[in-house]
Amino acid sequence: TERPLVLGIETSCDETGVGLVRGGTLIADALASSVDEHARYGGVVPEIAARAHLEAMVPTIERALDRAGLRHRDVDAVAVTAGPGLAGALLVGVAAAKAYALALGVPLHGVHHLAAHVAVDTLEHGPLPRPSVALLVSGGHSSLLLVPDLATEPVVPLGATVDDAAGEAYDKVARLLGMPFPGGPPIDAAARDGRADIAFPRAKAGDGTFDFSFSGLKTAVARWVEARHRSGEPVPVADVAASFQEAVADVLTAKAVAACRSQGVDTLVIGGGVAANSRLRALAALRCEAAGIQLRVPRPGLCTDNGAMVAALGSLRVEAGVAPSPWDLPATSTLPL
Ligand code: KG4
Ligand code: ZN
Repeated sequence: TERPLVLGIETSCDETGVGLVRGGTLIADALASSVDEHARYGGVVPEIAARAHLEAMVPTIERALDRAGLRHRDVDAVAVTAGPGLAGALLVGVAAAKAYALALGVPLHGVHHLAAHVAVDTLEHGPLPRPSVALLVSGGHSSLLLVPDLATEPVVPLGATVDDAAGEAYDKVARLLGMPFPGGPPIDAAARDGRADIAFPRAKAGDGTFDFSFSGLKTAVARWVEARHRSGEPVPVADVAASFQEAVADVLTAKAVAACRSQGVDTLVIGGGVAANSRLRALAALRCEAAGIQLRVPRPGLCTDNGAMVAALGSLRVEAGVAPSPWDLPATSTLPL
């Protein structure tokens, strides 16, 4: 008998994602993005995102099913991001998931967006050792988490940013360097031709906590660039990008390794949009190797928001026999872990 087919829906920010997972295997994934509509505002505009989800939702479900050669009636359970995220954006996904599950007569599982960013790794690297430590770095979050059992137990926060998220810092620094939104990919690309020789600050490094702070780094980059403008010298964009990127990767990986050590854990999984960053991936590989820690990072396309991650966590829950969510499941923009 075939294992249950779980359809996952993600709408917490600007990506409408639909994924299909059966027994830990990714069957198909479809994504629609409103990112271009937000670009000229320099950040995601919540109402634009919500309206875009409303328009893209059903076509994206159909596209995922088409790619898999499956039909609506093949779906055995529906999983959806219930939070955290933009309230209006989440409402569209949760309402759609309820209607779809109700119409099909299948159970609904509301899942936590950050736990889903961790769960997606299981699609590529198999079951996650228990416990593991997760470093989650996205546009909205930068957290270190202790992950006991993804399906049945809540993840335990070890630390988080006290101000900006890592991705937010990328987006702000990109803006002041005149690069498009979202800023991660263009900074990553520019840094390849640069030297990381500008000493930007590593806030909270070595302070014994698992917290981060990135707003001072962003300000330091802004001051450095302004000083260059004032002196009339050209801004070495590639060097600034490389130096900023090095500062972010340095604190993130140092604290992630320290968190593994403090918990006696030998597996680190990195997720979230910033996990797509080439320098973060390379430095994490170096430092984990040196520390005897097994590093797991999903391929870049699965690091940024998508439906597969939601289906992955839904699949783990369904297979573990976790009770479905109630039909009055709320969308919670500040959903705690
Ligand atoms: O996980 P995600 O897609 O959405 C949120 O849940 O926030 O993360 C988006 C963030 C953006 O800030 C974007 O600039 C950043 O991930 N990002 C990157 C890269 N690709 C995306 N940051 C650094 N390097 C990248 N290659
Ligand atoms: Zn995310």
